[in-house]
Amino acid sequence: MMTQGFTLWFTGLSGSGKTTLSREMEGVLLERGMKVELLDGDVVRTNLSKGLGFSKGDRDTNILRIGFVCNLLTRNDVVAIAAAISPYEEIRQKNRQLIGRYVEVYCKCPLDILEERDVKGLYKKARLGEIKNFTGVSDPYEEPSNPEVIVETDKETVEQCVAKITRTLELLGYIPVIGNGAEYSAEEEEEIKRRLKALGYI
Ligand code: ADX
Repeated sequence: MMTQGFTLWFTGLSGSGKTTLSREMEGVLLERGMKVELLDGDVVRTNLSKGLGFSKGDRDTNILRIGFVCNLLTRNDVVAIAAAISPYEEIRQKNRQLIGRYVEVYCKCPLDILEERDVKGLYKKARLGEIKNFTGVSDPYEEPSNPEVIVETDKETVEQCVAKITRTLELLGYIPVIGNGAEYSAEEEEEIKRRLKALGYI
């Protein structure tokens, strides 16, 4: 079966679950026979965006580059998955407009919980001033205004988040419907539909 491409864009603070969920979704989509390419901020910054820092200008350049590649992939029927903090709303909207078939997932998690976990030890360094302009601590993160999915990664399990994203993609018509609804509750299904209705999709 030939499927059309789209971009699945993960945004959120460092440690909010973007990489984990993007890898999980890569697996789900590969299992459904789609061609998938994953662009992770941490990886992209070692090649495509090598040399860029964390000023607003450099972050914007990084995100627009990732968006550019996602668009190339999307129009060639590949599912592009991006996982980058992408802190600025205006730049995310630019990518959304460019790509068109764009689904945004906001990985939402309170800062105090991220700081408590501090998987990479970066929040501590940011608080000590050893890292400047750290997102959420000393640099802005603008919450998305119209994400297709919000996953609250401190409250929902990885499986729940994956089910929610997958179901949204089904309802949007980007992937064939094969789920039997077992992974999520009726309330979750209602929440997903409410959001898509509010955004004017259904
Ligand atoms: S973005 O702002 O341009 O979207 P990106 O997702 O590529 O950021 O990179 C974020 C990663 O870079 C973080 O997960 C963290 O490991 C690392 N990093 C290093 N310095 C910073 C900083 N000042 N702010 C945020 N992340 C940083």
